[in-house]
Amino acid sequence: MKVGKSIISNNIKELIIRRPDDWHVHLREGLLLEAVLPFTARQFARAIVMPNLTEPVTNTIEAEGYRSLILKALAKENVTREFIPLMTAYLTDMTKASDLARGYSEGIFAAAKLYPANSTTNSAHGVSDMAKLKAVLNKMEDIGMPLLIHGEVTDAAVDVFDREAVFIRKILKPLINEYPKLKVVLEHITTSDAVDFVSSMKGKVAATITAHHLIINRNSLFQGGFQPHNYCLPVAKRERHRMALRKAVTSGDPWFFLGTDSAPHTIKDKETNCGCAGIFSAPSALELYATVFEEEGVIEKFENFASIYGPAYYGLEINAGTVTLTREECMVPQRVTVADGTEIKPFLAGKVLGWRLKDKP
Ligand code: NCD
Ligand code: ZN
Repeated sequence: MKVGKSIISNNIKELIIRRPDDWHVHLREGLLLEAVLPFTARQFARAIVMPNLTEPVTNTIEAEGYRSLILKALAKENVTREFIPLMTAYLTDMTKASDLARGYSEGIFAAAKLYPANSTTNSAHGVSDMAKLKAVLNKMEDIGMPLLIHGEVTDAAVDVFDREAVFIRKILKPLINEYPKLKVVLEHITTSDAVDFVSSMKGKVAATITAHHLIINRNSLFQGGFQPHNYCLPVAKRERHRMALRKAVTSGDPWFFLGTDSAPHTIKDKETNCGCAGIFSAPSALELYATVFEEEGVIEKFENFASIYGPAYYGLEINAGTVTLTREECMVPQRVTVADGTEIKPFLAGKVLGWRLKDKP
């Protein structure tokens, strides 16, 4: 097995794939947006942009406003490659089905996002009771609008490492039974329970998988002291779950595709009392994923995962251009500096990876 892997590694000097998309990213706003956006836009043609701003993006007008802020930031940062932000609606107990349908039909919304209330960063406005979403979900089912789910229960009595598995059992399964035609993406999955569940649905439900959940397990949160930059939600789980995620991406099944969940917070917001959850992987996202596929000996399956399966599930065209990764050492930046002088520490800062995105500055 090992020999086969190294033969593949030694032979491939360059990997050219269709330009990929990121099906889950946090771009933030203001100066943070300007600092992080170029990394995503350099690698990905499109990205599903999360709506959990400090004031969440809950309706069509707000989404148009946020989209124009992103487009302005692209121009300001001189990003010349075409990049299309795909906007999402943050569902609340107050979301109007008619507004969602209008935003979707006008091409402003690509999907809607369900955060169970208080499940993660800026999710206090999330949905408190699924029953309140009945009209919204009926409408989404009718029009084929994807529902993106942060799949964790928020019940404080449930162990933080079990919250995804409990969500699948108690909320997701009944939801899918009630809305059998709803297009569902279970986001940033972290457990074998999620892998098994999504696989059993044979394409009715899709899932995104982050690079960091393929790379770290929960030990990395505590190695040599607490490591706040490895803390995200859903939190990394046991090694056997990481292995299940690796098996999922190497399966070649089309319902697993790329979503970085790159979620930048400044160092001061991470290294503090009550530090924020979120791992900032955008600067080296493609290199990180390519490393995982190569380690698993399935680099030839990387393109499908990164560039083909996502658009297929969303019913969108595959991107026209390509990106090239070359077999060269490439160091994950130590820091990314925001214009106000604050800094963000990328995932695996300073680590040297074996792949480099061509044209990387
Ligand atoms: C995200 C963030 O910071 O906005 N954090 C995270 O740990 N992933 C929120 C989220 O997607 O859960
Ligand atoms: Zn996220």
